[in-house]
Amino acid sequence: MSSPTAGSAGAVSSTPEERVLVLDFGSQTAQLIARRVREQNVFCQIVRHDLSVDRIRELAPKGLILSGGPASVYDAGAPAPDPRIFELGIPILGICYGMQVTCRALGTEVSPGTHREFGRTSCTLKTASPLFAGVGGEMTVWMSHGDQVKNPAENWVILAATADCPAAAVQHKSAPIYCLQFHPEVTHTPLGGKLLGNFVREICGCRGTWKMSSFISQQVERIRERVGKRRVICGLSGGVDSSVVAALLYQAIGDQLSCIFVDNGLLRTGESDEVRRRFGEHFRTDLHVVDASRQFLGELKGVVDPQAKRKTIGRVFIDVFRAEAKSIPDAHFLAQGTLYPDVIESGANVDGPAATIKHHHNVGGLPAELGFELIEPLRDLFKDEARALGEELGLPEEMIWRHPFPGPGLAVRCLGEVRQERLEVLRKADTIVIEELRKAGLYRQVQQAFAVLLPVQSVGVMGDYRTYDEVVAIRAVTTEDFMTADWAHLPYEVLESISTRITNSVRGVNRVVYDISSKPPSTIEWE
Ligand code: XMP
Repeated sequence: MSSPTAGSAGAVSSTPEERVLVLDFGSQTAQLIARRVREQNVFCQIVRHDLSVDRIRELAPKGLILSGGPASVYDAGAPAPDPRIFELGIPILGICYGMQVTCRALGTEVSPGTHREFGRTSCTLKTASPLFAGVGGEMTVWMSHGDQVKNPAENWVILAATADCPAAAVQHKSAPIYCLQFHPEVTHTPLGGKLLGNFVREICGCRGTWKMSSFISQQVERIRERVGKRRVICGLSGGVDSSVVAALLYQAIGDQLSCIFVDNGLLRTGESDEVRRRFGEHFRTDLHVVDASRQFLGELKGVVDPQAKRKTIGRVFIDVFRAEAKSIPDAHFLAQGTLYPDVIESGANVDGPAATIKHHHNVGGLPAELGFELIEPLRDLFKDEARALGEELGLPEEMIWRHPFPGPGLAVRCLGEVRQERLEVLRKADTIVIEELRKAGLYRQVQQAFAVLLPVQSVGVMGDYRTYDEVVAIRAVTTEDFMTADWAHLPYEVLESISTRITNSVRGVNRVVYDISSKPPSTIEWE
């Protein structure tokens, strides 16, 4: 076995015909820009703001987008691109800070901001341009800036203006360079996607060849070439990412794939069966189901501290997985469902923006010392693309659209001690929450919903009896990226049926409460 990261870190793992690069100046919305471009079926990659022109030439992009960012062009050490990018002849779109660095590099003054303009405003088109093709005379746009360009030099044409921003959009007279002071990538700019589409299609000349079907055939070929006759292990969790990886690998290498599914006893109703059906019967992979629930519950006995629970589960998982992997003697590779946001956030991509905060939790992750070579076929994909890939690969809708579930499973939703009988109560309540949401057609409208069993008892009355039973909290959130979230405004009727069903049919629960906290300051999970 060779180095655990060989062949994966930093690699651009696909060779799309058409590529657009986003030079990231520290924007909160660089990922959104990339997603909007990919909605046009054009592969889009986020790279360092100062990527050298030589490397850009190697990547041969059809267009460059310079993102926004928190700096002012007047700050000492303000981030700047390689100045030679403006001579490449490749179409450029500067957004917000990207506009300011572009205009400044090409001879236009940027006025320092006296106040920040923030929020929705109306933008009036002044001059026809391919960037605004198909857009009417007025559009709503989202602004968030301090500095701005007020009087572009002679070599620019003003395309659009707002009340406070006389040059909200500009176009260079002799080069294919465009700039927007507002943010086309956010949903608050309703026609922003159209503008980005115009940029990549009309201005960069992209045809839109990035499709999941071609991604599958490219990846299948690449995986076969890399794996040869060797064996790949894939850890299944029941979640979308690992299921999609396994289905893709199965298509590529069939019976050279071994899947390991660790049943930790902390799963939701039916999850384990679904994995068995899909990967044991439907795909007929060499599926190793390890029932380690006793071991997990044994180790969790008496543990109530959330961090201690996570640590215990992480440790036991690695032990169990390692032991099972050893029983597959010729295994050489380990397949993982790493997604593009993980790659960006971990700073693992050599061309990518500098490492920022690592956001995702890695309980349930595997340590590098396992000693396998990694295969990460989803590392160029956003979550919605991984789902689309799953659909192409024939995974059932229910598996693809299942809400995310944390590695430590129900343990972090069973507040206090995790015991078999408490898990049973929680599982029943959770099933009701999900069933009722589906029945009301709301499951896909919230991004995560579940039940939490509280370590609290409260007084109730049932018939002539006084009860002293447990409390279930319902959590349902809407979110784009799980970094921030709003509590879902579920209809009262749905909450009512959830509550009635739980108190009527889940023994030991006499009270149901709804969590109306957003994130921040709360988190989505309770532990
Ligand atoms: P929080 O609770 O931090 O959760 O707002 C954000 C998202 O991450 C999921 N989550 C986890 N996922 N292992 C995981 O794989 C974990 O330990 C873990 N903790 C939280 C959570 O379900 C939500 O989707």
